[in-house]
Amino acid sequence: MHVLTVLDHPNPTSFSAAAATRFMEGAQAAGHTVELADLHAEGFNPLWTMQDAEGDETPADVRLEQDRIARADAICLVFPLFWWGMPSMTKGWVDRVWSWGWAYDQLDDPELSLQRPRTGVLLIPAGARSDEIERDGYGQALDTTWTRGTFGYFGWSPRQMELLCGSTGSLDRRRALLDRCQQIGLTLPEPSGGTGPAAG
Ligand SMILES: Cc1cc2nc3c(=O)[nH]c(=O)nc-3n(C[C@H](O)[C@H](O)[C@H](O)COP(=O)(O)O)c2cc1C
Repeated sequence: MHVLTVLDHPNPTSFSAAAATRFMEGAQAAGHTVELADLHAEGFNPLWTMQDAEGDETPADVRLEQDRIARADAICLVFPLFWWGMPSMTKGWVDRVWSWGWAYDQLDDPELSLQRPRTGVLLIPAGARSDEIERDGYGQALDTTWTRGTFGYFGWSPRQMELLCGSTGSLDRRRALLDRCQQIGLTLPEPSGGTGPAAG
């Protein structure tokens, strides 16, 4: 498969950057080709503007990202959890690139996408511990919003959300989380199911 990794972090020595690297190493070890979209390094503009809302043509920077997606069979987003949500860069990338008329054309059924099925993975470094996240229901809320709600509309099937809890914790903890990222890359499933078109 061809695997696109989308990284949202300005610091190349961050835990998020390491998670993306280890994921890609795993994917390569499994025989996949890999491509990195390093959104901060590339200066992606996450602001949704009038051109996105009302323009006659798809903005050039959005088209470039859509071309990357078009050649990918699997997509992995890596972004740190910010206030139980996406950082603005990832949020803007999702809002602008997976646009109405290209990714989806309705909001009735999250399993009906205009895109062909692609394997989808969210790797999300989070400062909180897993017991805190589960106790207060954040994990379930994010799973509903993203795994069930958002990424189904984009044809991601199967899709997996992995909260990398304790990403600011001990060295051992962070090593274990990075090993997990590599393992996820190594064991990526093929795209499956979905009701969108065969090619997109
Ligand atoms: C603005 C901001 C908001 C954050 N919000 C959360 C949060 O809601 N939940 C959480 O578990 N961690 C939160 N964190 C912690 C980050 O998720 C953590 O610092 C990050 O995963 C560490 O990875 P990095 O080294 O790649 O930045 C927040 C950090 C920042 C800077």
